[in-house]
Amino acid sequence: MDVRLWIVPFALLLLGAGGCGTSAVLLDSEGEPSASSWASPSPSPPFDPEELADRLVGLQPQWPRNTLPRSPGARGINCRRVRCVALTFDDGPGEYTGRLLDILARHRARATFFVLGRMAAEDRGENLRRMVTEGHEIGNHTWNHLPLTQLSPGRIRFELVNTQKVVRRLTGVRMTVMRPPYGSTNAKVAAEARREGLAQVLWDVDTLDWRDRNPSLVTQRATQTGPGSIVLMHDIHPTTVEAVPAILDQFAKRGYAFVTLSELYGVRRLIPGRQYTSQKDGIRGTPPAAIP
Ligand code: NI
Repeated sequence: MDVRLWIVPFALLLLGAGGCGTSAVLLDSEGEPSASSWASPSPSPPFDPEELADRLVGLQPQWPRNTLPRSPGARGINCRRVRCVALTFDDGPGEYTGRLLDILARHRARATFFVLGRMAAEDRGENLRRMVTEGHEIGNHTWNHLPLTQLSPGRIRFELVNTQKVVRRLTGVRMTVMRPPYGSTNAKVAAEARREGLAQVLWDVDTLDWRDRNPSLVTQRATQTGPGSIVLMHDIHPTTVEAVPAILDQFAKRGYAFVTLSELYGVRRLIPGRQYTSQKDGIRGTPPAAIP
Protein backbone atom coordinates (compact mmCIF):
# COMPACT_ATOMS: atom_id res chain seq x y z
CA MET A 1 0.00 0.00 0.00
CA ASP A 2 1.32 3.42 -0.93
CA VAL A 3 2.14 5.20 2.31
CA ARG A 4 1.10 8.55 0.89
CA LEU A 5 -2.45 7.33 0.49
CA TRP A 6 -2.62 6.96 4.24
CA ILE A 7 -1.53 10.48 5.04
CA VAL A 8 -4.76 12.23 4.15
CA PRO A 9 -7.07 9.96 6.13
CA PHE A 10 -4.69 10.19 9.07
CA ALA A 11 -4.53 13.93 8.89
CA LEU A 12 -8.34 14.00 8.88
CA LEU A 13 -8.44 11.51 11.72
CA LEU A 14 -6.14 13.73 13.75
CA LEU A 15 -8.10 16.85 13.01
CA GLY A 16 -11.28 15.05 13.90
CA ALA A 17 -9.79 13.72 17.09
CA GLY A 18 -7.95 16.88 18.07
CA GLY A 19 -10.70 19.17 16.94
CA CYS A 20 -8.29 22.06 17.08
CA GLY A 21 -7.93 24.27 14.04
CA THR A 22 -4.34 25.00 14.91
CA SER A 23 -3.27 21.40 14.57
CA ALA A 24 -3.48 21.66 10.79
CA VAL A 25 -0.76 24.27 10.74
CA LEU A 26 2.76 22.95 10.54
CA LEU A 27 5.02 25.33 12.38
CA ASP A 28 8.26 23.97 11.10
CA SER A 29 10.92 25.76 13.02
CA GLU A 30 12.12 27.32 16.22
CA GLY A 31 11.91 30.60 14.28
CA GLU A 32 9.04 32.98 13.95
CA PRO A 33 5.65 31.54 14.79
CA SER A 34 2.99 32.92 12.52
CA ALA A 35 0.73 34.92 14.80
CA SER A 36 -2.52 33.88 13.15
CA SER A 37 -1.82 30.20 13.67
CA TRP A 38 -1.67 30.24 17.44
CA ALA A 39 -3.12 33.52 18.68
CA SER A 40 -6.40 31.97 19.73
CA PRO A 41 -6.19 28.21 20.08
CA SER A 42 -9.73 26.93 20.34
CA PRO A 43 -10.56 24.75 23.32
CA SER A 44 -10.18 21.09 22.48
CA PRO A 45 -13.00 18.62 22.88
CA PRO A 46 -12.30 15.35 24.69
CA PHE A 47 -9.50 13.60 22.87
CA ASP A 48 -7.97 10.24 23.63
CA PRO A 49 -4.45 9.89 22.20
CA GLU A 50 -4.16 6.34 23.51
CA GLU A 51 -7.23 5.28 21.60
CA LEU A 52 -5.85 7.06 18.54
CA ALA A 53 -2.51 5.25 18.94
CA ASP A 54 -4.30 1.91 19.33
CA ARG A 55 -6.14 2.49 16.09
CA LEU A 56 -2.90 3.40 14.36
CA VAL A 57 -1.02 0.39 15.73
CA GLY A 58 -3.93 -1.81 14.72
CA LEU A 59 -3.24 -0.79 11.14
CA GLN A 60 0.28 -2.22 11.28
CA PRO A 61 -0.23 -5.90 10.47
CA GLN A 62 3.52 -6.61 10.61
CA TRP A 63 3.68 -5.71 14.31
CA PRO A 64 2.82 -8.66 16.51
CA ARG A 65 0.08 -7.72 18.92
CA ASN A 66 1.20 -6.14 22.18
CA THR A 67 4.90 -6.16 21.37
CA LEU A 68 6.96 -3.06 21.89
CA PRO A 69 10.37 -2.17 20.47
CA ARG A 70 13.36 -2.88 22.70
CA SER A 71 16.09 -0.31 23.28
CA PRO A 72 19.72 -1.47 23.37
CA GLY A 73 20.15 0.89 26.37
CA ALA A 74 22.77 3.53 27.11
CA ARG A 75 26.33 2.62 26.16
CA GLY A 76 28.13 3.77 29.29
CA ILE A 77 30.12 6.46 27.48
CA ASN A 78 31.60 8.83 30.08
CA CYS A 79 31.17 12.30 28.57
CA ARG A 80 33.33 13.82 31.30
CA ARG A 81 36.28 11.91 29.84
CA VAL A 82 35.36 11.51 26.18
CA ARG A 83 34.40 14.33 23.81
CA CYS A 84 30.66 14.09 23.29
CA VAL A 85 28.14 15.96 21.20
CA ALA A 86 24.36 15.57 21.40
CA LEU A 87 22.69 16.06 18.03
CA THR A 88 18.99 16.83 18.39
CA PHE A 89 16.31 16.78 15.71
CA ASP A 90 12.99 18.52 16.28
CA ASP A 91 9.49 18.73 14.83
CA GLY A 92 9.28 15.24 13.28
CA PRO A 93 9.01 12.44 12.66
CA GLY A 94 8.49 13.30 9.01
CA GLU A 95 9.12 12.04 5.54
CA TYR A 96 12.94 12.42 5.76
CA THR A 97 13.33 10.82 9.19
CA GLY A 98 13.84 7.32 7.78
CA ARG A 99 16.70 8.54 5.61
CA LEU A 100 18.26 10.28 8.62
CA LEU A 101 17.98 7.08 10.69
CA ASP A 102 19.79 5.20 7.88
CA ILE A 103 22.63 7.75 7.94
CA LEU A 104 22.94 7.65 11.74
CA ALA A 105 22.96 3.83 11.67
CA ARG A 106 25.75 3.77 9.08
CA HIS A 107 27.87 5.98 11.34
CA ARG A 108 26.82 4.18 14.55
CA ALA A 109 25.73 7.57 15.83
CA ARG A 110 22.95 8.15 18.31
CA ALA A 111 20.81 11.27 18.57
CA THR A 112 17.74 12.66 20.31
CA PHE A 113 14.48 13.30 18.51
CA PHE A 114 12.11 15.89 19.98
CA VAL A 115 8.90 14.73 18.38
CA LEU A 116 5.54 16.42 18.01
CA GLY A 117 2.62 14.34 19.25
CA ARG A 118 0.58 14.83 16.12
CA MET A 119 3.56 13.93 13.90
CA ALA A 120 4.20 10.83 16.03
CA ALA A 121 0.58 9.81 15.50
CA GLU A 122 0.79 10.38 11.74
CA ASP A 123 4.00 8.35 11.69
CA ARG A 124 1.97 5.42 13.02
CA GLY A 125 4.96 4.42 15.12
CA GLU A 126 7.16 3.37 12.22
CA ASN A 127 10.08 5.78 12.67
CA LEU A 128 9.44 6.06 16.39
CA ARG A 129 9.94 2.34 16.87
CA ARG A 130 13.11 2.44 14.80
CA MET A 131 14.42 5.24 17.01
CA VAL A 132 13.97 3.02 20.05
CA THR A 133 15.52 -0.16 18.60
CA GLU A 134 18.48 1.81 17.20
CA GLY A 135 19.30 3.40 20.56
CA HIS A 136 18.13 6.97 19.98
CA GLU A 137 16.29 8.99 22.60
CA ILE A 138 12.80 10.40 22.12
CA GLY A 139 11.84 13.72 23.71
CA ASN A 140 8.52 15.56 24.01
CA HIS A 141 8.19 18.63 21.75
CA THR A 142 4.45 19.07 22.53
CA TRP A 143 1.44 18.11 20.44
CA ASN A 144 0.94 21.22 18.31
CA HIS A 145 4.17 23.26 18.51
CA LEU A 146 2.58 26.30 20.13
CA PRO A 147 4.57 28.85 22.18
CA LEU A 148 3.82 27.45 25.65
CA THR A 149 4.40 30.71 27.54
CA GLN A 150 1.25 32.09 25.89
CA LEU A 151 -0.95 29.17 26.93
CA SER A 152 -2.93 28.44 30.07
CA PRO A 153 -1.56 25.76 32.42
CA GLY A 154 -4.37 23.44 31.31
CA ARG A 155 -3.51 23.86 27.67
CA ILE A 156 0.21 23.33 28.36
CA ARG A 157 -0.73 20.10 30.12
CA PHE A 158 -2.80 19.03 27.10
CA GLU A 159 0.23 19.60 24.86
CA LEU A 160 2.60 17.61 27.06
CA VAL A 161 0.37 14.84 28.37
CA ASN A 162 -1.12 13.82 25.03
CA THR A 163 2.32 13.62 23.47
CA GLN A 164 3.53 11.49 26.41
CA LYS A 165 0.55 9.19 25.94
CA VAL A 166 0.82 8.67 22.20
CA VAL A 167 4.58 7.99 22.32
CA ARG A 168 4.14 5.64 25.27
CA ARG A 169 1.45 3.69 23.48
CA LEU A 170 3.39 3.43 20.23
CA THR A 171 6.81 2.60 21.73
CA GLY A 172 6.44 1.84 25.43
CA VAL A 173 8.80 4.76 26.14
CA ARG A 174 8.07 7.21 28.94
CA MET A 175 9.93 10.31 27.84
CA THR A 176 11.93 12.19 30.49
CA VAL A 177 13.01 15.24 28.47
CA MET A 178 11.00 17.92 26.71
CA ARG A 179 11.89 20.91 24.57
CA PRO A 180 9.51 23.86 24.54
CA PRO A 181 8.80 25.04 20.98
CA TYR A 182 10.83 28.18 20.09
CA GLY A 183 12.70 27.65 23.37
CA SER A 184 9.85 29.65 24.87
CA THR A 185 9.62 28.85 28.56
CA ASN A 186 8.97 30.38 31.98
CA ALA A 187 8.07 29.27 35.49
CA LYS A 188 4.55 28.26 34.40
CA VAL A 189 5.95 25.96 31.69
CA ALA A 190 8.56 24.62 34.12
CA ALA A 191 5.84 23.75 36.64
CA GLU A 192 3.89 21.74 34.04
CA ALA A 193 7.07 20.03 32.80
CA ARG A 194 7.92 19.10 36.39
CA ARG A 195 4.44 17.69 36.93
CA GLU A 196 4.96 15.36 33.94
CA GLY A 197 8.47 14.34 35.05
CA LEU A 198 10.13 16.16 32.15
CA ALA A 199 13.43 18.06 32.23
CA GLN A 200 13.53 20.99 29.81
CA VAL A 201 16.37 20.64 27.32
CA LEU A 202 17.24 23.56 25.08
CA TRP A 203 20.47 23.92 23.07
CA ASP A 204 23.71 25.87 22.87
CA VAL A 205 24.27 25.48 19.12
CA ASP A 206 21.56 26.72 16.77
CA THR A 207 22.11 25.70 13.14
CA LEU A 208 19.21 27.91 11.92
CA ASP A 209 18.55 25.08 9.50
CA TRP A 210 14.85 26.03 9.25
CA ARG A 211 15.84 29.42 7.81
CA ASP A 212 18.90 28.57 5.74
CA ARG A 213 18.13 25.49 3.68
CA ASN A 214 21.77 25.08 2.79
CA PRO A 215 23.59 21.87 3.81
CA SER A 216 27.10 23.36 3.90
CA LEU A 217 25.98 26.29 6.04
CA VAL A 218 24.16 23.90 8.40
CA THR A 219 27.30 21.71 8.60
CA GLN A 220 29.47 24.72 9.36
CA ARG A 221 27.19 25.99 12.12
CA ALA A 222 26.68 22.55 13.67
CA THR A 223 30.37 21.72 13.91
CA GLN A 224 31.83 24.99 15.21
CA THR A 225 31.63 24.00 18.83
CA GLY A 226 33.39 22.12 21.59
CA PRO A 227 32.63 19.07 23.77
CA GLY A 228 29.34 18.84 25.63
CA SER A 229 27.25 20.81 23.14
CA ILE A 230 23.61 20.26 22.30
CA VAL A 231 23.02 20.99 18.61
CA LEU A 232 19.56 22.05 17.38
CA MET A 233 18.40 20.77 13.98
CA HIS A 234 15.12 19.74 12.35
CA ASP A 235 14.61 16.41 10.57
CA ILE A 236 11.66 17.77 8.60
CA HIS A 237 14.02 19.60 6.22
CA PRO A 238 15.74 17.52 3.50
CA THR A 239 18.65 19.98 3.46
CA THR A 240 19.34 19.22 7.12
CA VAL A 241 19.32 15.48 6.53
CA GLU A 242 21.68 16.09 3.60
CA ALA A 243 24.07 17.92 5.95
CA VAL A 244 24.26 15.12 8.51
CA PRO A 245 26.91 12.88 6.84
CA ALA A 246 29.38 15.80 6.73
CA ILE A 247 28.50 16.81 10.31
CA LEU A 248 29.17 13.25 11.50
CA ASP A 249 32.43 13.02 9.52
CA GLN A 250 33.78 16.30 10.85
CA PHE A 251 32.99 15.56 14.48
CA ALA A 252 34.28 11.96 14.11
CA LYS A 253 37.62 13.23 12.77
CA ARG A 254 37.95 15.28 15.95
CA GLY A 255 37.29 12.20 18.07
CA TYR A 256 33.72 12.94 19.17
CA ALA A 257 31.14 10.40 20.33
CA PHE A 258 27.54 11.04 19.20
CA VAL A 259 25.35 10.60 22.24
CA THR A 260 21.76 10.91 23.36
CA LEU A 261 20.91 13.47 26.03
CA SER A 262 20.71 10.77 28.70
CA GLU A 263 24.18 9.60 27.71
CA LEU A 264 25.48 13.19 27.68
CA TYR A 265 24.42 13.77 31.27
CA GLY A 266 25.16 10.28 32.56
CA VAL A 267 23.10 7.74 34.39
CA ARG A 268 21.63 10.09 36.98
CA ARG A 269 18.29 11.42 35.94
CA LEU A 270 17.92 15.06 34.92
CA ILE A 271 15.70 17.03 37.29
CA PRO A 272 12.14 17.51 35.98
CA GLY A 273 11.28 21.17 35.32
CA ARG A 274 14.93 22.27 35.37
CA GLN A 275 16.49 23.80 32.29
CA TYR A 276 19.53 22.43 30.41
CA THR A 277 21.39 23.92 27.45
CA SER A 278 24.66 21.95 27.37
CA GLN A 279 26.67 19.47 29.42
CA LYS A 280 28.10 22.42 31.38
CA ASP A 281 24.78 22.82 33.19
CA GLY A 282 25.54 19.60 35.06
CA ILE A 283 22.95 17.25 36.44
CA ARG A 284 21.24 20.00 38.46
CA GLY A 285 20.49 22.25 35.49
CA THR A 286 19.25 25.78 36.04
CA PRO A 287 16.04 26.82 37.80
CA PRO A 288 13.18 28.05 35.62
CA ALA A 289 13.02 31.64 34.47
CA ALA A 290 10.46 33.88 36.18
CA ILE A 291 7.10 34.58 34.59
CA PRO A 292 7.58 37.82 32.66
NI1 NI B 1 10.28 22.93 17.05
